[in-house]
Amino acid sequence: MTVRLYVPRDAAALALGADRVAKAFSREAETRGLDITIVRNGSRGMHWLEPLVEVETAEGRIAYGPVRPADVPALLDAGLLDGKAHPLCLGGTEEIPFLKNQTRLTFARCGVIDPLSLEDYKAHGGLRGLEKAIAMAPADIVKKVTDSGLRGRGGAGFPTGIKWKTVLDAPGDQKYIVCNADEGDSGTFADRMIMEGDPFVLIEGMAIAGLSTGATKGYVYTRSEYPHAIAVMNDAVAIARAAGMLGPSVLGSGRAFDMEIRVGAGAYVCGEETALLNSLEGKRGIVRAKPPLPALQGFMGRPTVVNNVISLASVPVVMGKGAAYYRDFGMGRSRGTIPIQIAGNVKHGGLYETAFGLTLGEIVDTIGGGTASGRPVRAVQVGGPLGAYFPRALFDTPFDYEAFAAKDGLIGHAGITVFDDTVDMLKQARFAMEFCAVESCGKCTPCRIGSTRGVETADKIAQGIEPEKNRELLADLCNTMKFGSLCALGGFTPYPVMSAMTHFPEDFSPAPMVEAAE
Ligand SMILES: Cc1cc2nc3c(=O)[nH]c(=O)nc-3n(C[C@H](O)[C@H](O)[C@H](O)COP(=O)(O)O)c2cc1C
Ligand code: SF4
Repeated sequence: MTVRLYVPRDAAALALGADRVAKAFSREAETRGLDITIVRNGSRGMHWLEPLVEVETAEGRIAYGPVRPADVPALLDAGLLDGKAHPLCLGGTEEIPFLKNQTRLTFARCGVIDPLSLEDYKAHGGLRGLEKAIAMAPADIVKKVTDSGLRGRGGAGFPTGIKWKTVLDAPGDQKYIVCNADEGDSGTFADRMIMEGDPFVLIEGMAIAGLSTGATKGYVYTRSEYPHAIAVMNDAVAIARAAGMLGPSVLGSGRAFDMEIRVGAGAYVCGEETALLNSLEGKRGIVRAKPPLPALQGFMGRPTVVNNVISLASVPVVMGKGAAYYRDFGMGRSRGTIPIQIAGNVKHGGLYETAFGLTLGEIVDTIGGGTASGRPVRAVQVGGPLGAYFPRALFDTPFDYEAFAAKDGLIGHAGITVFDDTVDMLKQARFAMEFCAVESCGKCTPCRIGSTRGVETADKIAQGIEPEKNRELLADLCNTMKFGSLCALGGFTPYPVMSAMTHFPEDFSPAPMVEAAE
């Protein structure tokens, strides 16, 4: 009987040699006359263990990692195909604490199934949400999504159901669903992991969004830096279309929805929804003034839902298991689960899906295991390049939109970047301003000019030039950018800058310049 081996095709695993590991297994199996089937799955999200190889046994899947091509002969000698012991053996995959303690709703199948097998997808609960949606009136689907408490996972946390209702109620001969898969935030990879590891869940979520709003066409807008995700999504759309999951009659419902994948040329600001729409229309990716809202006049001036990958990929579970089931997880107004992406100088980097409510300290110290360098954690940036830096003193903050906002922070796309005590927070503040200057679309003055002045002012502080005056100037500049910018690129750059100044003031008072020796 053939033995099933799982070797991820996820970009993170590929970067660590997964293709070479897969080749080593097939070569070795051929030489030894072993009957194996290699399934190229997505990642389980434990990046420090990649390439993580799993073998299917009577006792369930057994994991080994990180596996290098040179380990393969010894692993086979030790009895990997029967799940036997070896120094790289991690035991039952589902028993690894990092995985076992998660609540995987959106990522339930990621790393489990063959990403491009619709059969595998269905066998693991796929399509149930769409099947239910087909039997419902559009307004009832929207109500269910609203009742689930699902909020946009792209950054702003706007209630998904309310956005859908605006599009449903908007007059228009043609409406669109646009999936924001630009994923520009540093240290984030949840969108990529879903697209590479469970593409049908995103397609299903988009089809449900289409049925609920009357939109018949969808686009996934992603970045050229995601070649593997683009390839998997294109293949998955073709398979879904051939199977009647997309097309003129979705699953035989008589209602149409189809979609395609579009690739941007690469600009952080093209993740901002209106710049994204311009880019999708073939124009320069600059921000549009709001109103009009994209929900009323979006792609090609038509009513458009713009949602993040994770928002859309969470809809099938809401539809399949019910609004109350989803809403039951979480705290306060942050309902359901959130895929936290732990990156930077951290021991256990990867994706951890859990209900809202864990404290930042639990996430960084317990789940992340502290720094990879072994030095003390000094700062954690939450929410990408526009997110605030939190010191240890704020580690009791629960992962919740409102709790973070109350501490002048944001959750954003739930990326966490960890820094040890060697970090220079003045340099980080300068970097935030520099990033804004480089990525600014240039449409408004506070962002375009302010960010460049911010870099200069940070440099003056570093050089010890009138530090007090320049610290005041930097704070004043941040205030102008926060309240005067047209979009959140200029408007949120003050968060990393001000949090660095507030929580790490010692880094903004460089030692006075030493007099030259006589
Ligand atoms: C500069 C900037 C970059 C952004 N980048 C992204 C991104 O990469 N992905 C994303 O989903 N949202 C991004 N957003 C947020 C989007 O504008 C928008 O709020 C989101 O796509 C809405 O989807 P959601 O409601 O599902 O979160 C960005 C916003 C700004 C201001
Ligand atoms: S804040 Fe910056 S990125 Fe946003 S519209 Fe203004 S110039 Fe463009």
